[in-house]
Amino acid sequence: MIELAFSILASDFAHLADEVAAAERGGGTIVHVDVMDGHFVPNITFGPAMVKALRRVTKLPLDCHLMIENPDLFIPEFGEAGADMVGVHFEACRHLHRTLQLIEQHGMRPAVVINPATPVEMLIEVLPMVHHVLVMSVNPGFGGQQFLPLALDKIEHLTELRTEMGLNYRIEVDGGVAHDTVARVVEAGTDMLVAGSAVFSPGKTEENARELLRLAHEAGAALDEGSDGEDGADGARTQPED
Ligand code: DX5
Ligand code: ZN
Repeated sequence: MIELAFSILASDFAHLADEVAAAERGGGTIVHVDVMDGHFVPNITFGPAMVKALRRVTKLPLDCHLMIENPDLFIPEFGEAGADMVGVHFEACRHLHRTLQLIEQHGMRPAVVINPATPVEMLIEVLPMVHHVLVMSVNPGFGGQQFLPLALDKIEHLTELRTEMGLNYRIEVDGGVAHDTVARVVEAGTDMLVAGSAVFSPGKTEENARELLRLAHEAGAALDEGSDGEDGADGARTQPED
């Protein structure tokens, strides 16, 4: 199932509850929360207090993308604030395995994130531990950047590995996912689409989300038709369980 994780980074923070509601009406099913510390990335956003505030205004799962140094220090607080999924950067974790365990221990679903310069191979050992892998298709820190096509090979590679290793992790893509790039992203095998600036715009958020999902489903359907007869019981497009 293809899902839209709308990134509130591009929303109007002064009307956050309304913004989330509009994206949800448009079909968004996950709230993507970009946490930045001004060290790991050259920008500062928000932290657990924002997660706590969101938890009060939506029932949708909160997907926290931690772009911070020393994420272990803050994982318990995100758990208490009501986060459902927490993604940590491979590049920020000295003991990634331990950090993913910590997320799980605090009752959240662990995810690992890779920057454009990091190869998928670095994740082999932890793939069995994660709920999803987040492939960055821009360098993290800012919304509204241009999609980097190098992400497509990584998504395909992760799709193949999932089948080869008999795993169920989901594949999420973040950065520059918009109406003109979404088809390629879906065709490569993505099932969680992060989008910020392509979704949020005054008065058009609901419509933008709906159209982005329509294009995603269209690409997904074409892919399923194209692969009819090729996919056996262990076909290339395994539908991961939740
Ligand atoms: C960037 C963030 C993204 C950002 C995406 O570091 O991780 O989630 O909000 O923004 P768009 O969709 O505008 O590229
Ligand atoms: Zn993000």
